[in-house]
Amino acid sequence: MAEVQEQAEELATEEQVAALVRDFYAAADADPLLGPMFRAVIPDWQGHLAVVTDFWSRVLLGTDRYQGCVMSAHGKLRMSEAQFDRWLTLFRQAAEANLPPSGQKRVMEAAGFVDGRLRHWQAAIRDRESAPRPGS
Ligand code: HEM
Repeated sequence: MAEVQEQAEELATEEQVAALVRDFYAAADADPLLGPMFRAVIPDWQGHLAVVTDFWSRVLLGTDRYQGCVMSAHGKLRMSEAQFDRWLTLFRQAAEANLPPSGQKRVMEAAGFVDGRLRHWQAAIRDRESAPRPGS
């Protein structure tokens, strides 16, 4: 247990997690490619930030406030490859500005994993939507 605590302390503090999320969403909001899209799909901005903070706290600190399913939360969204690229760029910048190197590495692994799966999923949906329908 002491070992887990020690490792967690190296990755980030709760304040750093909150700063990571705050900086990322401020940058995303100001970004022409992401801002309007985020505002259109996120009904409760502050509520969303709180949930996402809990998610990253779980990744970095092993807390258990986040109990959701990241993938299903994105099921109805349609994002372009350019929007995913921008998401990752802005998130990396926020991580570099707020976390120690070990924390940056950990969040970028998790972000890269989710990002990769979401891209794959979106590409599959695009293929399905553009495929000719049987009988047409
Ligand atoms: C352009 C890319 C993305 C867009 C437009 C997007 C948008 C959204 C939306 C609309 C929601 C649900 C609304 C809400 O919770 O208030 C959501 C939830 C969430 N997103 Fe994203 N997202 C993107 C990429 C990512 C990536 C790469 C991650 C990486 C981990 C991520 C993490 C989360 C988390 C943790 C939640 C909360 C899920 C829950 O409610 O259980 N998102 N996102």
